[in-house]
Amino acid sequence: MARRILVTGGAGFIGSNFVHYLVANTDDSVTVLDKFTYAGNEASLAGLPEDRVTVVHGDICDAELVDRLIAESDVVVHYAAESHNDNSLHDPRPFLDTNIIGTYTLIEAARRHEKRFHHISTDEVYGDLELDDPERFTDQTPYNPSSPYSSTKAGSDLLVRAWVRSFGLQATISNCSNNYGPRQHVEKFIPRQITNILVGDRPKLYGEGLNVRDWIHADDHSSAVLRIVEAGRIGETYLIGADGERNNKDVLETILELMGQPRDAYEHVVDRPGHDLRYAIDASKLRDELGWAPAYQDFDRGLADTIAWYRENEPWWRPQKDATEAKYREQGQ
Ligand code: NAD
Ligand code: DAU
Repeated sequence: MARRILVTGGAGFIGSNFVHYLVANTDDSVTVLDKFTYAGNEASLAGLPEDRVTVVHGDICDAELVDRLIAESDVVVHYAAESHNDNSLHDPRPFLDTNIIGTYTLIEAARRHEKRFHHISTDEVYGDLELDDPERFTDQTPYNPSSPYSSTKAGSDLLVRAWVRSFGLQATISNCSNNYGPRQHVEKFIPRQITNILVGDRPKLYGEGLNVRDWIHADDHSSAVLRIVEAGRIGETYLIGADGERNNKDVLETILELMGQPRDAYEHVVDRPGHDLRYAIDASKLRDELGWAPAYQDFDRGLADTIAWYRENEPWWRPQKDATEAKYREQGQ
């Protein structure tokens, strides 16, 4: 039976990819609740059928609005967040408001209306790993966040866990690794480098670029979230990852090569303070218990598709580019 799904942050990178995924793969109707911060983009929802997708401009901290929208929904999938580590190091306050108070506002309404709630989180709550550590993150790894961003995400996860235990909230949580794909803001690593090359600027690598991220395509994140919403056990945490560990230098050199540039045509810039060294996800609980598997097995192929998307969608990213680079320049990055 078709569900009514409330997607918070549905105009952002991963949220909008999830909305497109739901429209293509289910009969559900979707309401997007998004504040349209600098990271929300109307164009990311263009072309979706109006009889399936409703867009509400609003703040997840607005208790009255949130209460009404949750009362009208069957399931809430909560993506809305301040999401960028570098921003959180320069202006942490919006991270506390949206990630902590916003999540609190949503779970209070979800418990009042007894609605299923899925909380989207990040592997960064677990801190970082040494390059040679044979262990990867599991749902048993202790929380140890490094940045204002990741500590507010950790705080929001703990609120959801407490609401499950103390108030019987029907919630699940997922912690995913680094996503790539279409519609990602140009402040983030992969789109920043692709669009720098497209505008004729040199890509920028923080420090030596030996930091490792565990890349997953946004569509694989979406398929995993849908599987958890449909079959995940209430109160459980599922880690989402696709065995995609690569260091930043390697990813950047691959982008340069795929775009026909010399592999060394980039600059080293000042490193991120407190820069996490390595993330790595063990997704065996999700794979074994819920039978999920990623569709994108070949990172270079996914990267080539992503480069093609940015080449073909300059009107989507061009308006963000100059302001984003001006901010980075001020920070020496
Ligand atoms: P994003 O910054 O691209 O999008 C965030 C969206 O939330 C934007 O549309 C923004 O307008 C909206 N928003 C912000 N504050 C809001 C508020 N107060 N009320 C309503 N809407 C608000 O972020 P993203 O990269 O798509 O990340 C989405 C979620 O996935 C976040 O919870 C993030 O922590 C999580 N996550 C991201 C990654 C990644 O690699 N990007 C990996 C794992 C988990
Ligand atoms: O692991 C999941 C997390 O992945 C999510 O929770 C975050 O919302 C998401 O932004 C992402 O966080 P990162 O900090 O890993 O992503 P970012 O794209 O900012 O940076 C990826 C790596 O690239 C990181 O090691 C920093 C480096 N970097 C980044 C930029 C913007 C550079 O070397 N140069 C750059 O210009």
